[in-house]
Amino acid sequence: MDREQKGLAILGSTGSIGTSALDVVRRYPERFRVVTLAGGTNMELLKRQAEEFRPELVSVLESDAASKLKRELGIPVKAGAEGAIEAAIHPGVKTVVSAVSGAAGLLPTVAAIRAGKDIALANKETLVLAGPLVMEEVKARGVRLMPVDSEHSAVFQSLLGHRAEDLTRVILTASGGPFLKRRSDSLHSVTPDEALRHPRWNMGRKISIDSATLMNKGLEVIEASFLFGVPAEKISVVIHPESIVHSMVEYADGSVISQMSSPDMRGPIAYALSFPERIEAGLKRLDFSRLMLDFSSPEPGRFPCLALAYAALKEGGTHPAVLNAVDEVAVEMFLKGRLPFTGIPEVIAAALGRYQGRRLSSIEDVIEADRWGREEARSLIEALN
Ligand SMILES: NC(=O)c1ccc[n+]([C@@H]2O[C@H](COP(=O)([O-])OP(=O)(O)OC[C@H]3O[C@@H](n4cnc5c(N)ncnc54)[C@H](OP(=O)(O)O)[C@@H]3O)[C@@H](O)[C@H]2O)c1
Repeated sequence: MDREQKGLAILGSTGSIGTSALDVVRRYPERFRVVTLAGGTNMELLKRQAEEFRPELVSVLESDAASKLKRELGIPVKAGAEGAIEAAIHPGVKTVVSAVSGAAGLLPTVAAIRAGKDIALANKETLVLAGPLVMEEVKARGVRLMPVDSEHSAVFQSLLGHRAEDLTRVILTASGGPFLKRRSDSLHSVTPDEALRHPRWNMGRKISIDSATLMNKGLEVIEASFLFGVPAEKISVVIHPESIVHSMVEYADGSVISQMSSPDMRGPIAYALSFPERIEAGLKRLDFSRLMLDFSSPEPGRFPCLALAYAALKEGGTHPAVLNAVDEVAVEMFLKGRLPFTGIPEVIAAALGRYQGRRLSSIEDVIEADRWGREEARSLIEALN
């Protein structure tokens, strides 16, 4: 039987997740069709992607670059946040791969949900910033929101066929990043190059630094809480350096269900796009005769960002949006050499300590909290320099 091709918008197509998603599409031209592509500033790669996948519309960050690319490709090329939204809601798009990095991913994802598109969600910030609002919209529009984060994909898979009321704990695994074994008293002198060298995953710069501080896991705890409707108290984090067990769910009888595979983001991306079918996406098969799996607890002193994320989740409202905004600025400043590695949690703690929380009742509340967090972070970092 002929299968109808699924029309895709790939937001963040030039990034680590975006290129992996396109690799999955390349393997299954009969299943998937790229309808739109949205990138940021990497024009050379975006142009190559557009020439290969022949989308109907492309979007980029800057308008000058958009005009140039439009002349070269001969198709509509839009710019800025509006451009990414157009790419997300374009007719013919059935599923949006939301893989822009950072808070910039929120608005196009929300627009896509409101336009009735299914979402394959890599941009965890969408749920960190506006989880309750986004989940309400997903329900109201009857769209499917599939996690792409490997941990959340694993939890999703471990929940299938089980009763939600029997769940006692969600256990997210964390590789521990490049500084798991480094002496804590030497972390202040970590360089951006050292922090970017992740032992297991090849990812974008922001998420790589967040993996080194474990803020990425903190953001994932928040994401999991909203996505699966599980309170912070029922979510724990365990260090698992091999990144083979992608996460687990514990049930009332003490049974634990996990999902395992070699660490390759094409796995969860393909699953999110083909669910409920499973398709081959190039993953190396596990050889259990050679596997050694280690688990340990994260040291709070080494990874203070994790506790900050739990605290923001428990505070609720717009606290997670402020946490994320301050972290985005702090990471950017660390990468520019203007903040030491250990300054990242210090700035986040200081900003959250000064934040007079707000209720989260609209996307405008999120935008305001994001703006406050960024301003506060900049002035705190300025005062340190
Ligand atoms: N990488 C992973 O393994 C992984 C795993 C789980 C979840 N995630 C999540 O997936 C998201 C993407 O991560 P990544 O590692 O793929 O990041 P990345 O490699 O840095 O890619 C980010 C993508 O977003 C685009 N972009 C950045 N700012 C933009 C803006 N303002 N408007 C439009 N496009 C913009 C970039 O464009 P240019 O490069 O062209 O400028 C690029 O295409 C993040 O939320 C991350 O937490 C990633």
